[in-house]
Amino acid sequence: MAFLSDRLARIKPSPTIAMTTRAAELRAEGRDIIGLSAGEPDFDTPENIRQAAKAAIDAGQTRYTAVDGTPSLKKAICGKFKRENALDYEPSQITVGTGGKQILFNALMATLNDGDEVIVPAPYWVSYPDMVLLAGGTPVFVECTLEQGFRLTAEALEAAITPRTKWLILNSPSNPSGAAYDHDQMKALTDVLLRHPNVWVLTDDIYEHLVFDGFQFVTPAQVEPKLKDRVLTMNGVSKAYAMTGWRIGYGAAPAPLVKAMAKLQSQSTSNPCSISQYAAEAALNGPQDYIDESREAFQRRRDLVVAGLNDCPGIECPTPQGAFYVYPSIKGLIGKTSAGGTALTDDQAFANALLEETGVAVVFGAAFGLSPHFRVSYATSDDQLTEAVARIRKFCEGCN
Ligand SMILES: Cc1ncc(COP(=O)(O)O)c(C=O)c1O
Repeated sequence: MAFLSDRLARIKPSPTIAMTTRAAELRAEGRDIIGLSAGEPDFDTPENIRQAAKAAIDAGQTRYTAVDGTPSLKKAICGKFKRENALDYEPSQITVGTGGKQILFNALMATLNDGDEVIVPAPYWVSYPDMVLLAGGTPVFVECTLEQGFRLTAEALEAAITPRTKWLILNSPSNPSGAAYDHDQMKALTDVLLRHPNVWVLTDDIYEHLVFDGFQFVTPAQVEPKLKDRVLTMNGVSKAYAMTGWRIGYGAAPAPLVKAMAKLQSQSTSNPCSISQYAAEAALNGPQDYIDESREAFQRRRDLVVAGLNDCPGIECPTPQGAFYVYPSIKGLIGKTSAGGTALTDDQAFANALLEETGVAVVFGAAFGLSPHFRVSYATSDDQLTEAVARIRKFCEGCN
């Protein structure tokens, strides 16, 4: 009898973490490595949030809380949805977890039966398919190419829906492509969903605030209020307030789903860290200046990286609407050989050769379900980005 479960065999370790680990190993060997593979802001958590956490510790807020969030944090989250998304939610429709990741995990575990299908537009965030598989579901991938702006179309959504479809996962702005849906593009999808009353929408809005050039973020429940009773809107403080390590994410959904997710959480992690919950409350209720500051910095970096990569022979890099990633195509390099002698047969070979030969760590596109591409996270300093782009250009120029 095997000791490890069959369930575990269905999933793979995160390829983004694998790439970051390999980069760390090379750095430990003394190599000069530029890491463009991690998905977190390089800024510190704003001062008012750090102070709130210290005050929470001193006030003795160090005990168990309600399983899926303190009443005051849930109230702050309701306030955020009202203020920023024109959505009315009651605290009974709010759930708080250890990162947005736990909200997604809870939702899928609480709802999927064996063979239930979940539509996952590709390129996708690496965790969606594995979470679906772990919960016994079947991910149904729909390729959304560079030519389509990496966005799901109404026709492709309609074609992917079957009687077994339980969820559609949407992620706008997207990790890894940075693509975001404007109002009309989102409305085209919600119109399809209105015709399929058994399909629910899991919308991952974690990059909501990182949108550029005046882009107007929208979320499905806001665009189509008639869908609200089958939408789970997931969000969190990780990316908006540079709080990745604090581990607070939240969701808004019909109360019965929220209750089911809390039941699951009560038998696994219980409440998210009490101190982090007070910090998240301060983030949502406090001054919002940080959001604009970080947006400006990320837009500048996006422009630097897009321009630099489009100067590299063999690379085509579209300009994304949001997040802090670009997802260039390397179609023009496939079939060539790098200066170090690696045959660039696919995007994994490209990313490995780039790391070994130039010290720049990126993540290959196959990890996100759309090749031949690679993902650059530009959440690092302008100087590092300038140097990384120069190394990538040299690498591309050396391929033949
Ligand atoms: C698309 C997407 N969703 C969710 C998460 C998880 O965020 P959290 O830190 O809140 O768990 C990430 C983090 O990388 C992400 O990129």
